[in-house]
Amino acid sequence: MTDAANNSTALITGATAGLGAEFAQQLGAQRHNLVLVARDTARLEAKAVRLRQDFAIDVEIISADLQTASGVAAVAARLTQPQNPVTILVNNAGYGLAKPFEQNTVQQEADQLAILVSAPMQLMHAAVEPMLARGQGMIINVASLAGFIPRGTYGASKAWIISFSKWANVNYGPRGVHVTAVCPGFVHTEFHQRMGASTAKIPGWLWLNPDRVVREGLAAAWAGKSVSVPSRRYAALARLSKFLPERLGAAAGWRRR
Ligand SMILES: NC(=O)c1ccc[n+]([C@@H]2O[C@H](COP(=O)([O-])OP(=O)(O)OC[C@H]3O[C@@H](n4cnc5c(N)ncnc54)[C@H](OP(=O)(O)O)[C@@H]3O)[C@@H](O)[C@H]2O)c1
Repeated sequence: MTDAANNSTALITGATAGLGAEFAQQLGAQRHNLVLVARDTARLEAKAVRLRQDFAIDVEIISADLQTASGVAAVAARLTQPQNPVTILVNNAGYGLAKPFEQNTVQQEADQLAILVSAPMQLMHAAVEPMLARGQGMIINVASLAGFIPRGTYGASKAWIISFSKWANVNYGPRGVHVTAVCPGFVHTEFHQRMGASTAKIPGWLWLNPDRVVREGLAAAWAGKSVSVPSRRYAALARLSKFLPERLGAAAGWRRR
């Protein structure tokens, strides 16, 4: 066992790529021990080796599909384990569907709902009680700017996690457990490639790098904020979205979804 500076452990879902990998990198650099969760075991192992070498921290891996009951149960079991308790939970794993709602099968929609809403809800449920008992904890839910505008079931799922994070932060914050929804716009990750969506028409100024999103998201979480919208340009768009008529809001998202 290594002697991580602050004796804290962060569990990150979707830690093999994109924003999750960056959360692992930045929390590792702050010398939190890590529990990395994703489906690809080889990729998890490679990340763990690298993070142990770079930061002299403990890194556990859990290979789990968070769209299955057994996958969620395996991660929930780690969150309720009293030894080396998890002090930071980052609900990050997720993806979007390329086709509009009516063209997807109901199973595809149910699977997306599972990864974006059901799994984070169940993992928060597992994490929050031990955190409240210790009077300390931090939960970060990676949402999206899409949660502020009408954008199909993806946007609706992200709206759910933003709303629930706000409620949870108000209720649990005074008891030492802070909950923050991080709401990025477009970020350079594997997200769009995995969903098979073209990014050709998205202007360059709308893209952010994961390091900035995670740095600003972590700063907001440490400050106990309910919502973080990384970058000033997206914070302005989020404010503007409150005044947009539904039709315009929907057009600002991807029209097909
Ligand atoms: N990139 C953007 O523009 C953007 C914008 C706003 C919000 N977001 C949100 O940011 C979060 C992270 O996305 P990203 O952009 O970093 O995407 P990414 O680069 O594609 O990474 C997704 C991660 O989630 C894991 N994952 C996917 N399905 C899983 C499952 N069923 N069970 C367990 N792990 C699973 C993947 O690992 P395995 O394949 O190994 O399981 C991978 O580590 C998502 O919630 C997304 O909605 C992204």
